[in-house]
Amino acid sequence: MRLYRVYKEGQLKALVKVLGIESTAHTFGVGVVDIEKDNFILADARAQYSPAVGGIHPREAARFMAENAPKVLRSALEEAKLKIRELDAIAVALGPGLGPCLRVGATVARTLAAYYEKPLVPVNHAVAHVEIGIKLTGAKDPVVVYLSGGNTLVAAFVEGRYRVFGETLDIALGNLLDVFAREVGLGPPYVVKGVHVVDACAEKGEEVLDLPYVVRGQDVAFSGLLTAALRLFKKGKKLEDICLTLREMAYNAVVEVAARCLVHTGKREVMLVGGVTASPYLREKFEKMCKLYDAELRVVPPRYAVDNGVMIAWTGALAYSKGIVVPVEDAVIRQRWRIDEVDIPWRNQLYRRFLRQK
Ligand code: FE2
Repeated sequence: MRLYRVYKEGQLKALVKVLGIESTAHTFGVGVVDIEKDNFILADARAQYSPAVGGIHPREAARFMAENAPKVLRSALEEAKLKIRELDAIAVALGPGLGPCLRVGATVARTLAAYYEKPLVPVNHAVAHVEIGIKLTGAKDPVVVYLSGGNTLVAAFVEGRYRVFGETLDIALGNLLDVFAREVGLGPPYVVKGVHVVDACAEKGEEVLDLPYVVRGQDVAFSGLLTAALRLFKKGKKLEDICLTLREMAYNAVVEVAARCLVHTGKREVMLVGGVTASPYLREKFEKMCKLYDAELRVVPPRYAVDNGVMIAWTGALAYSKGIVVPVEDAVIRQRWRIDEVDIPWRNQLYRRFLRQK
């Protein structure tokens, strides 16, 4: 991807109303932000694809997005009371994510940018989760724990980028819970009244069974745990006990990785982001860990912990403030765009200021 820096520091004119488009997995979201306002969210429109059976089928999800994109875009603009011409930039999540879904968002963004001659700002979806989290929780320089259906990641800002301190080597934590629930008949739906069905079932468990621990060095691996848990289910072990064990093994693994990152980097905050972090039991574990290491726990509000267009718009505005844009013809999707491949120039400055205050 060819990126352009169009401005030098201090040259950028008054900032900025940015529209952001999210379409990496199941949500087509359009957000509009005005970074000069305290109430910076001008619009937040979304449509979520939820299959009746099974997991996300990328092409089905993409079709759903293509069908809903005009409606979501229109409702975001109405909510923001803005015309596209009045926007300063269009931001779009170009990865990581599911190819067919990413292409829908990228096509809409390229079209708007080209037709209305607006700067197009490329945004990494994982970076966007972190940035909106920092904005909304008031965190300064946290260890970030990003847990969702597609991501399991522990990262921290070090020398210009969010460096990965641990990640899953196979499936994501949310995926582990959803697939297990599906295979044993607990879901879908996977979340009932804000609690995952595996979490709810685990509450009735009494005994921790023998399942493999899943930390590999500084990373985690969940697929072996899933297979072993399903094997126990087929053997007729009590489902409640399997859920309890699964939860303990999986949650403890990410807490352990985050704790080591905290100690290693010397940071004083842990920020939880992503759909899985809605789990009260997971939070409880993180609270205990943070207390142990004298760190503060920040949890992103549920509405913005999941995928949304606002986080893309907000991160797009930060990137645009540093003059980062991409020519329309180069705005291609990157399904495996890692968080640590992205320079974060806006945070260098914020980070330096923060260190001075410390
Ligand atoms: Fe996400």
